Amino acid sequence: MTIGEALKNTSQKTGSDRNKKLELELLLSFVLKKERVFLFINHQQELSSNDYQKYQKLSKKLFSGWPLAYLIGEREFYGRSFLVNQSTLIPRPESEMIIDLVKEESKKYPKATIIDIGTGSGCLIISLAKELGTDYNYYGLDISSKALAVAKKNTKKHEVKINFKTSNLLSDLPKQAGKVFFLANLPYLTKEQVKNELSIKKEPKSALISGKDGFKDYRCLFKQLSKRSDLKDFYLIIEIDPSQKELAIKELRKYLPEKKVKIIKDLRKKNRFVIIN
Ligand SMILES: C[S@@+](CC[C@H](N)C(=O)[O-])C[C@H]1O[C@@H](n2cnc3c(N)ncnc32)[C@H](O)[C@@H]1O
Repeated sequence: MTIGEALKNTSQKTGSDRNKKLELELLLSFVLKKERVFLFINHQQELSSNDYQKYQKLSKKLFSGWPLAYLIGEREFYGRSFLVNQSTLIPRPESEMIIDLVKEESKKYPKATIIDIGTGSGCLIISLAKELGTDYNYYGLDISSKALAVAKKNTKKHEVKINFKTSNLLSDLPKQAGKVFFLANLPYLTKEQVKNELSIKKEPKSALISGKDGFKDYRCLFKQLSKRSDLKDFYLIIEIDPSQKELAIKELRKYLPEKKVKIIKDLRKKNRFVIIN
C-alpha cells in the first residue's frame, strides 16, 4: 500500500468533506513523523505495515468522532503548537482574540502581573508570555492538576516561565500588589448545550459545563474578586457564550458595581468577550 493509495482509500469515506480530508492527511503525516507536503511529493512510497496499521486505527477513531487534536496530541494556537490530551480543552481559534486584547492593554503597564484563570493547556498565558517577554509576572491557575501537568510541558516546549497553581478560581492565588491583568476562559456551557454538540463529546466536562445557566464559575469568580481587598486595580477579560451578554452585565453590576464593563464581539460578530476595568 502506497501513501497515495492509503489516502485515497480513507478519503473515499469523507464524501465532499474537505476538512476531514485535510485531517486524514495530517493524521498520516503524524504517523510518518513528516510534514504534510511530504505526502504529496512521496505519494508512491510504500507504507510499512506498522505505519499502515497505525494509520488505519487512528483514521477509524477520527471517523468515530475523536478530535484530530487528541489523536495527534497537539493543536495550533496563535501560531504555536500546544500539547493537549483528554484532560485539557482543545484551544479554540476564537480565544486568540484574548491575546490581542490583553497584549494591547498590558503594554501600558510593564512589570504588571498577568493571571490566567482556568489555564488548561496553558495556551493563553504561554502565548502572552511569548508575545510580551520576561518583564511581566505570569500565573496559570486551574482546578485540574492533570491539566496543569500538560500546561507545564507546554512551558518547557515554549521555554517560558509561568507560576502554575492548583486553585479553585482565585482561592490559592497569593496576595497581589500593583496592576493585575486577569484572563479567564472558564467553562460557560450548560449540560444541554454539550449534549447537542457531537464535536465536543470527548472533551472534559469540567472544562465545558458550568452549572444550570453555564455561568456558575464566572459568578463565583466575580464574588471572589469583590472580596479581595488586595485586588483593587485589576483588568479582567472573560470569554462567554454569546447568549450570556445580559446575564454577565447583570452579575457584574451586582458584584463589581464600581467597574466599567465593555462587550467585545468575536470575528464572527458574536458577543464573545467581556472586559471589566
Ligand atoms: C474552557 S477550558 C479553557 C482552557 C484554556 N484556558 C483554553 O482557553 O483553551 C476551562 C478550564 O477551566 C478549568 N476550571 C474549571 N473550573 C475551575 C475552577 N473552579 N477553578 C479553576 N479552574 C477551573 C478547567 O479545568 C479547564 O482547564
